[in-house]
Amino acid sequence: MNNYCSELWPLIYDRYNRGHHDQELDFYSSELAAFSGPVLEVACGTGMILLPLLAQGLDIYGFDLSAGMLAQLFAKVHPDDLADLHRRVSQQNMVDFQLDLTFDAVIIPARSFLHLITQDEQIAALRNIHRHLRPGGRLLLNFFTPNLRLLVERLDPQPDFVYHGTYPHPNSDREIVVSYRQINDPAEQIQNITWRFQIGAESYDSLMRVRWIYRPEFELLARLAGFRIAALYSGFDREPYTGDGEMVWLLEKETKR
Ligand SMILES: C[S@@+](CC[C@H](N)C(=O)[O-])C[C@H]1O[C@@H](n2cnc3c(N)ncnc32)[C@H](O)[C@@H]1O
Repeated sequence: MNNYCSELWPLIYDRYNRGHHDQELDFYSSELAAFSGPVLEVACGTGMILLPLLAQGLDIYGFDLSAGMLAQLFAKVHPDDLADLHRRVSQQNMVDFQLDLTFDAVIIPARSFLHLITQDEQIAALRNIHRHLRPGGRLLLNFFTPNLRLLVERLDPQPDFVYHGTYPHPNSDREIVVSYRQINDPAEQIQNITWRFQIGAESYDSLMRVRWIYRPEFELLARLAGFRIAALYSGFDREPYTGDGEMVWLLEKETKR
């Protein structure tokens, strides 16, 4: 199965990302502190952002497409807190999710929006988020600035696999050896990454697809969905956007369309 719906990604996700989320978590935590109403994390995965924000006292909800990622999230929670968490977290797709709540703010950290591969999906997801926000509510998200030089380095249609790292298997004493190969499709703006997980003599491949987005392209998508661009930063330190680094977007739901 693709992306994080594979069986093995959820098992190594937190170790793979150890330390990577610190700056991101600080950013979302301080931005959301201003809101007293409910907030939503789209594509909350194993809860690396959602669980600390819940512990901080936010009235936070979330969903994710991958049952395996959500199983890791629920496994981290004390049994006494599970009923509350099941009320807050569900398995849904950002394209057509439905929740009976109106949110002060919605966040999409960790570049999850780039897993939407078509414009129809991108527009549907943004419009759906717009519907779930109160007037004046905020959508905050981040993803990388496409670096054309790096992207055209990976056009070889049959590249070798590159070793990435070795992780302990959480449910056995074996190790998971991870390698990958990446083929970029500049016409479609898609990175096709095959992740290979080797456990002893067994090998499992899992495809991950990521569609990169240019700044003017996202401005257009946001406007189409009824958002005003309140700010765009380069990185989580809130530097004005320089055309480089992580794009960190603050959008506001326009009240009239
Ligand atoms: C990079 S992970 C981020 C997880 C989490 N937000 C975090 O910060 O650790 C991307 C997540 O997006 C989820 N995802 C991908 N496509 C999705 C979709 N269409 N709807 C909901 N979740 C999706 C994946 O299952 C995965 O958990």
